Amino acid sequence: MLTSKLPNVSTTIFTTMSQLAAETGAINLSQGFPDFDGPDALREAVARAVMDGRNQYAPMTGLPALRAQVAVKVATLYGRQASPDSEITITPGATQAIFCAIHAVIRAGDEVIVFDPCYDSYEPAVELAGGVCIHQQLSLPDFSIDWQRLADALTPRTRMIVLNTPHNPSGALIDRKDLDRLAALIRDRDIYLLSDEVYEHLVFDGREHASVLRHDELYQRAFVVSSFGKTYHVTGWKTGYVVAPAHLSAELRKVHQYVSFTGVTPLQWALAEFMEAHPEHLSELPGFYQAKRDQFCDLLSASRFDFSRTAGTYFQLADYSAIRPDLDDVSMAQWLTREHGVASIPISVFYQTPPADLRLVRFCFAKQEETLRQAAERLCAI
Ligand SMILES: Cc1ncc(COP(=O)(O)O)c(C=O)c1O
Repeated sequence: MLTSKLPNVSTTIFTTMSQLAAETGAINLSQGFPDFDGPDALREAVARAVMDGRNQYAPMTGLPALRAQVAVKVATLYGRQASPDSEITITPGATQAIFCAIHAVIRAGDEVIVFDPCYDSYEPAVELAGGVCIHQQLSLPDFSIDWQRLADALTPRTRMIVLNTPHNPSGALIDRKDLDRLAALIRDRDIYLLSDEVYEHLVFDGREHASVLRHDELYQRAFVVSSFGKTYHVTGWKTGYVVAPAHLSAELRKVHQYVSFTGVTPLQWALAEFMEAHPEHLSELPGFYQAKRDQFCDLLSASRFDFSRTAGTYFQLADYSAIRPDLDDVSMAQWLTREHGVASIPISVFYQTPPADLRLVRFCFAKQEETLRQAAERLCAI
């Protein structure tokens, strides 16, 4: 009998809820992906790349043209002069980048601090590396970091802290002051940072994304991860990148080289071409998604859900205490799907030990206007 190396892992809630949505014909606002396509020019560029014979292995670190575009982007947006040769690596998705960053530094017995509610891919990667996740709860209701509790949780075995801003599932943002506090806390310690910034462009109401790439001190010990899938509405392309100082990139690449070796070639050609031709895509994204957030929230304000507008990501949390306080959030998500035809994600699944009275579900508003209108109509009828 094989003893599982990941005994606590089973089918994720994202798969479960998407399946339930498909079975029941519900509108799927559960999993985080758009129900619209990426830009025509980007998709045409892939077709062209495939037909032009860009179909053999790309270099291990990623296509030079795409790494050059990422370098331009991080210099323009964050003032970070990152070398495309030694600091930027293209990966098949942010998930793979996260896995490689964790495996580059985590050894048996190391502790990794994650903030609950937390994205589900960090912990299995840490466990497979022989490490252990120390779960810190973000403070409610604003999902902020409790700095004293974080300071208390640091031990000589703490090797990594995982940040995620904008934060999935809450949409909360950290700011420059938070980064300064973090820097002061870990200054004299042997601790690395994994900064998951896949929603870096989905920041609303004129606020600024506090990228670790802006922070000279933290950057020296950081892996900063992003996802072209999120940014260009093509989550199925599973293409992302990591920016890290040369000594950390070198170690990450040793893992990446044997996990996948490289990313998909024609996708990289297309992304490089599109990024160069359409830099405005990035500056237009916050407004694009803010309009979707506002459409959804305006409609939902006629419902009995309680919420404050999300600051970032394409997720909106909603408190259902006034509707079915008797149901825990998993039961509520199932009830909403089966009885009212809208699929969501319960928040408790993002916790090691969820707070007992949590009554929150997460809706994804990366959807067409008509999808959002129909979903809100159903939610308002409850
Ligand atoms: C916080 C967070 N990190 C990473 C990822 C994974 O990104 P990718 O699809 O590029 O692997 C996601 C996708 O939902 C996410 O929400």
